[in-house]
Formats: sequence, structure tokens, C-alpha cells
Amino acid sequence: MSITIKSAEDIEGMRLACRLASEVLDYITPHIKPGITTKEIDRLGAECMAQQGTISATVGYQPPGYPPYPASLCTSVNHVVCHGIPNDKPLKKGDIVNVDVTVITKDGWYGDNSRMFLIGECSIAAKRLSALTFEAMWHGIVQVKPGARLGDIGHAIQKFAEGHGFSVVREFCGHGIGKKFHEEPQVLHYGKPGTLEELVPGMVFTIEPMINAGRREVKDFGNDGWTIVTKDHSLSAQWEHTVLVTPTGYEVMTLSAGSPPLPPFVTATAT
Ligand code: MF3
Ligand code: CO
Ligand code: CO
Repeated sequence: MSITIKSAEDIEGMRLACRLASEVLDYITPHIKPGITTKEIDRLGAECMAQQGTISATVGYQPPGYPPYPASLCTSVNHVVCHGIPNDKPLKKGDIVNVDVTVITKDGWYGDNSRMFLIGECSIAAKRLSALTFEAMWHGIVQVKPGARLGDIGHAIQKFAEGHGFSVVREFCGHGIGKKFHEEPQVLHYGKPGTLEELVPGMVFTIEPMINAGRREVKDFGNDGWTIVTKDHSLSAQWEHTVLVTPTGYEVMTLSAGSPPLPPFVTATAT
């Protein structure tokens, strides 16, 4: 197996899948407030995908060694790092939640993205973790250009996150994406500049750092085969975009009307 290089036509397919994945997050956004359950968020996500004519990549998704994933999206609350399964517990003021959406279009292209949501008024620490994790993702994205290497992305994210006293989860990474959910390469969110695979125009992969307020270690929540939590119970945040390597830099593909504003150090969503 190797890294697929997308053609101009493939890229058109990916642009649509990625915009629709982002629009699912736009659709659920006004509903995410104290009292909503993560199951209700899941239902809204499924409703939006049905209207779009997309299908969820996560329903029934079953990598080796896992049970089939049972929902249309992932909802990871507070100390849940990733792969949280929607449930009947209402969100309450002060919670932070990552919603991760991956859709498949009629043509078979996958678009994958996630955002953080703050439930009502949150602690300064929670707001800071979410905001700085968003910036960490963008510090990785702006590294993307032909000739740069995957290690440049990981290093930029790690340096920024650890420089603010946070830690980077090592067990999960970004990934190539296309007509499959998880393709090569693995995109680590830590690393050394100038190392690993060189980036080439037409590569498409996700950048999706999971950043912990406390220690980086994670553990299985235990009973569902999916949910991952911080070992020290500290808060964890994650943001995710799907990114194309262009001849001159990057194009962030998972954008839509509701995408949050760019951090100050970023000048463009495509270069
Ligand atoms: N969307 C996640 C990612 O960014 C993967 C979720 S797999 C699931 O790669 F089965 F947990 F939904
Ligand atoms: Co992903
Ligand atoms: Co995702």
C-alpha cells in the first residue's frame, strides 16, 4: 500500500465530500446547548446527512479488533479524548464536547472533520484548551506544502501545544483519506522537523490533534470497545480538518459557512 495522489477529478469529489462534512457540523451547531443529549446530536447529524444524500462513515465501521461503531458521529465530552459514543446524558453548562463527522458521498468520497463546542459558560481553562487546540491544528496546517515533510506538521503542533503546558496524545493520529476512511499516511501530531514522508501535490490527509490539559497518557474507557479517555481524567480537546497538498501549499477542504474564523497567524484557507 502507498499514499494515493488525487487527480483533478478526484479533488472535485473530495471538495464536495469535505464541504458536506463541514455543513453537518454547521447544521447541529445551533442545537448544541445545555440539556441536549449527545444522542440527540447524533440524530440531528443523521438527519442532515439524509437531507444531503450522504451516508455516515462511522455507522458500522469496524476496524480489526473493534466492535462495529454504533452511531452516525462521535461525541467526546470533557476527559473523553476521542470516539465517544452518543448517549442519553444531557450536556450541562461548563462541559466541552468534540463532535467528529465523517460522510461518504454518492461517488464514494470521504470527508472527515471535527469541532469543539463549549456548553454554556465554561471555565477559563476549558476555553483556553479548546482555543489553543484549534490554533495547534492550524500551526500544523500551515506547514503543508510540497517538499515539506510529515515530521514538520507533527513538530509544529507538538511545540505549540507543549509550549502552552499541554500534552499531545500519541496513540491516535491524522490519516490519508479518499475513497477509504483511513488511508496512508499516518499523520502524527508530534515529531521532528525534516523527518518522515515528503509531501507531494495531490495528497489528501487529515490533521486532527488531540491535546490534553494534563498528561498525555490515555486509556480505554472500558466497557464499549471504543471510548478513549485521559488516564489522569484531565480535559482533552480536538479539532480536525481534511487538507489537500496543492502545488504551492495547502487547501483546507472541510470548510463551510459555519467554519470558525482563522487564527490571527493564518492568512488563507488555501495557498
Ligand atoms: N472520525 C474519526 C477520525 O477522525 C474516526 C472515528 S471512527 C469511529 O478518524 F468509528 F469511532 F467513528
Ligand atoms: Co480523521
Ligand atoms: Co474525524
